[in-house]
Amino acid sequence: MKRVDDFRLKFGKQELVPIMTGGMGVDISTAELALEAARLGGIGHISDAMVNTVADRRFNTKFVKDKLKFYKFNVANVDKSAVQFDLGQLAEATKMHVGKTMEAKLGPGLVFVNCMEKLTMNAPRETLRVRMRAALDAGIDGITLAAGLHLGSFALIEDHPRFRDAKLGIIVSSLRALQLFLRKTARTNRLPDYVVVEGPLAGGHLGFGMDWAAYDLATIVAEIHQFLRAEHLDIPLIAAGGIFTGSDAAAFLENGAAAVQVATRFTVTRECGLPEDVQQLYFKASEDQIEVNQISPTGYPMRMLTNSPAIGDGIRPNCEAYGYLLDSTGNCAYISAYNREVAANPGVKRVSVKDKTCLCTQMRNFDLWTCGHYTYRLKDTTRKLEDGSYQLLSAEHVFHDYQYSTDHKIALPD
Ligand SMILES: Cc1cc2nc3c(=O)[nH]c(=O)nc-3n(C[C@H](O)[C@H](O)[C@H](O)COP(=O)(O)O)c2cc1C
Repeated sequence: MKRVDDFRLKFGKQELVPIMTGGMGVDISTAELALEAARLGGIGHISDAMVNTVADRRFNTKFVKDKLKFYKFNVANVDKSAVQFDLGQLAEATKMHVGKTMEAKLGPGLVFVNCMEKLTMNAPRETLRVRMRAALDAGIDGITLAAGLHLGSFALIEDHPRFRDAKLGIIVSSLRALQLFLRKTARTNRLPDYVVVEGPLAGGHLGFGMDWAAYDLATIVAEIHQFLRAEHLDIPLIAAGGIFTGSDAAAFLENGAAAVQVATRFTVTRECGLPEDVQQLYFKASEDQIEVNQISPTGYPMRMLTNSPAIGDGIRPNCEAYGYLLDSTGNCAYISAYNREVAANPGVKRVSVKDKTCLCTQMRNFDLWTCGHYTYRLKDTTRKLEDGSYQLLSAEHVFHDYQYSTDHKIALPD
């Protein structure tokens, strides 16, 4: 049986190890993690989710504090439509996050940024345009369009000097979504350089309904592969979601995928942004502690650990500081849910909100533990230490395990 290292992902003349670490917002897929994947000859993703916060953490800037100060007058107001992002600051934060990452890049691989359309930021088009253009200005190797259909996203950057030289791809979960994207972007006369096909076992938000279990990645990959061949479209297809061993990956590569995108196995690496106590909970998770629920205000189902502190928490919406999920009219499903609970529980200091979560605050504080379906298998990828905790892994170890392992074996760390 073949192993991942028998294959290469080809972008023109460039050949890469066909392993891509997926974007994991908010700074779970850190620059350090992405840089390791690139150093090892693959592709690593950073994410621009809540980039102002991420820049503050990385570079000691004060973007969030400044925004909160500016909009403090509005904190008690249920109407958040006044809370806008300063586009200049957004560009600056993005350029710092991306630029500093690219400056540190070593080795033959690439670093891409994951750009989610669902981060609507109270001005969806304007903010997405700034995010993508700033990333291109700062020298990102590629942009992966995520969490949305992105029907207008290419058009937002088509006049950018790097529109044709940077790698641009999209994550889809169905052939229909890909067809729509291709039809709507045909006018820009540019095909995506790659298509990530993400199945229902992935972490983060899912491109499926609550009937996600009725779908399977291999079937969707086969369908999209067949479509691309029939249309003579030479676009590398990258499979994602539940690819846990090198052999799982090799099977996709043998069946037409040009690469795999993986994430869950890297959540327990030292380079990952999750705090170590949370990583220990990922290791310890049992299968029945992993659920797909609808508490994300984006409207997409999301997979997470059932013991996530975010579930049921009733924190006051923090849109003046964050506000990444405000739609074009300044609404977020959490605000309505929170206000409903406050009205129903007069005098209660801290209400509980069960149906939605304040995704910005909870992700920012690492209190929403989103994860892939196979998180319960992470304990089998390392050693249990004498104190009962699990040994964290290096990104290099996990990357090489995907690259070289055979027979579904998982190499344990030294
Ligand atoms: C902790 C975590 C956070 C994630 N966050 C995002 C995200 O912000 N944007 C996105 O497009 N995908 C996100 N994903 C999905 C991954 O990028 C990837 O496609 C998927 O999880 C691959 O499946 P695997 O985790 O089973 O390897 C996330 C996944 C995990 C595990």
